[in-house]
Amino acid sequence: MRYFIGNWKMFGVPKSINILNKINSFHSKDKNRKKYRVIITPPYTLIETFSNNFKKKKILIGSQNCYQKEQFSSDTAAISPFMIKSVGAKYTLIGHSDNRSEGDTNSMLKNKVQFALKNNLKIVFCIGENKSEKKNNRTLIVLKNQIRKVLEKKFNRNDIIIAYEPIWSIGTGKIPTLTELTKTIIYIKKVLKNIFKKKSPPVLYGGSVDETNIKIFKEIKEIDGFLIGGASKSSKKFIDIIKNYYR
Ligand code: PGA
Repeated sequence: MRYFIGNWKMFGVPKSINILNKINSFHSKDKNRKKYRVIITPPYTLIETFSNNFKKKKILIGSQNCYQKEQFSSDTAAISPFMIKSVGAKYTLIGHSDNRSEGDTNSMLKNKVQFALKNNLKIVFCIGENKSEKKNNRTLIVLKNQIRKVLEKKFNRNDIIIAYEPIWSIGTGKIPTLTELTKTIIYIKKVLKNIFKKKSPPVLYGGSVDETNIKIFKEIKEIDGFLIGGASKSSKKFIDIIKNYYR
């Protein structure tokens, strides 16, 4: 199974559902549709409308983050996994670099993972090195720490997806080389196999994925899918990414 996840970030109003409608009509007719899953993570404000509209369809809705407490609390503007699940989301991203840079610590992330899973949300756990860590050859050690400090074998592997997103690549148009990326993905899977009884959860790549460079990424069979930011705000680009992946 491959995953194409569209992370809308701070984008979208109710009428942006048009984008999902187009993706859905492509998907419902695509001969390859059984091979992959489409997940869109709109902002919190749209989760309920989108989930209701796509309840009977194959597009799944997720949230971009969740708070590190389970249900209700007195934290202003916080939204818990319980609340996210209650409006129909099936997934949540956790640990996106945007949120790590705003102060998400490993212990906060661990709580998020725990409470999301407890509330039956599948998680897409994001990891990635920054530019200076890459420059100093620290990529693999950074990734290993990000995984081991948060994920534990007691978590159900089937509810977890990992997204490798090098921070220097997000929104910059820069992408890793084929060799670099293959080595990194294989390493991430090795670390995960050590935690989850010899089987790794799916590992996706994210960072400047578009309808052109997808032809390069598809060469790496170890990549189980993609987390797509900028290009997921256009139904055409998002659909072309999927088309070009299976071409
Ligand atoms: P990008 O974003 O595709 O715009 O680089 C990816 C992400 O932040 O998830």
